[in-house]
Amino acid sequence: MATLVGKTAVITGAGSGIGRAAAHAFAGRGANVLAVGRSRDKLAATAEGWPSIIPLAMDITEERAPAAAVDTAMESFGSIDTLVHSAGILKRTPIGTISADDFDRFMAVNLRAPLLLTQAALLPLARSGGTVINISASFGQRGWPELSLYGATKAGLDFFTRTWAGELGDRGIRVVSVAPGPIETPILDNNELDDHAVATVHRLQELLPLSRTGTAQEVAWWIANFAESLAAYTTGAILPVDGGYGAV
Ligand SMILES: NC(=O)c1ccc[n+]([C@@H]2O[C@H](COP(=O)([O-])OP(=O)(O)OC[C@H]3O[C@@H](n4cnc5c(N)ncnc54)[C@H](OP(=O)(O)O)[C@@H]3O)[C@@H](O)[C@H]2O)c1
Repeated sequence: MATLVGKTAVITGAGSGIGRAAAHAFAGRGANVLAVGRSRDKLAATAEGWPSIIPLAMDITEERAPAAAVDTAMESFGSIDTLVHSAGILKRTPIGTISADDFDRFMAVNLRAPLLLTQAALLPLARSGGTVINISASFGQRGWPELSLYGATKAGLDFFTRTWAGELGDRGIRVVSVAPGPIETPILDNNELDDHAVATVHRLQELLPLSRTGTAQEVAWWIANFAESLAAYTTGAILPVDGGYGAV
């Protein structure tokens, strides 16, 4: 299915999980991919066997990161058609224990970085009639005890989606959210969730209409679909890919 030949996707968090699966989904449809992430080794593993995937290792919260991502994509591929904000952090933050540094780090990675990268890419996105895809979370639509900072950033991303869709439509730029439910990725292992929180996520699958966790590929398929030309009439949408979590 070579439906994205000649298109370029910039994908953050592409070293693992949903971001890596998205990189493979775009490359599999013929797109060029700038795979952005923190770990050089993980990005190399994402790019292995895919000549159209170029890795760019950096912390997306660094001041130079937005310009570096845009410049590298433009120099390597000449356009930016899709921006996928998949990089994110998840950590338990019970109320009463949250420090100012916790707050600042969550905002910097999960909200400020997508905002600044989107702003840096506005011109190329307008030129290509591009798409911004925020990876939020189905959990962000409700409360989730001990995950207030994470949920606040995800609710914020969905607000960005709706608002930017209104602001950028007349420039030809579409903005959507893909909101995953519980998906089997390293995020549950890498981050400082305690056993109870991880067990809760796994127990949740029994309550879902589809009775299982999802795969990164099942999320990535929707992400790549939003970059297709026939998605051109969709903007401001928040698509749950959550096994029915939000429905019940
Ligand atoms: N898995 C789920 O159940 C689920 C549910 C709802 C929403 N989501 C969202 O989906 C997105 C992808 O998560 P995932 O499940 O695929 O987890 P993941 O495998 O941990 O992916 C997150 C990626 O973000 C990268 N990253 C984190 N901080 C970064 C920074 N400062 N600079 C550059 N890269 C950074 C990580 O790189 P390093 O490992 O090198 O730090 C990692 O590759 C996240 O936004 C997450 O909130 C996931």
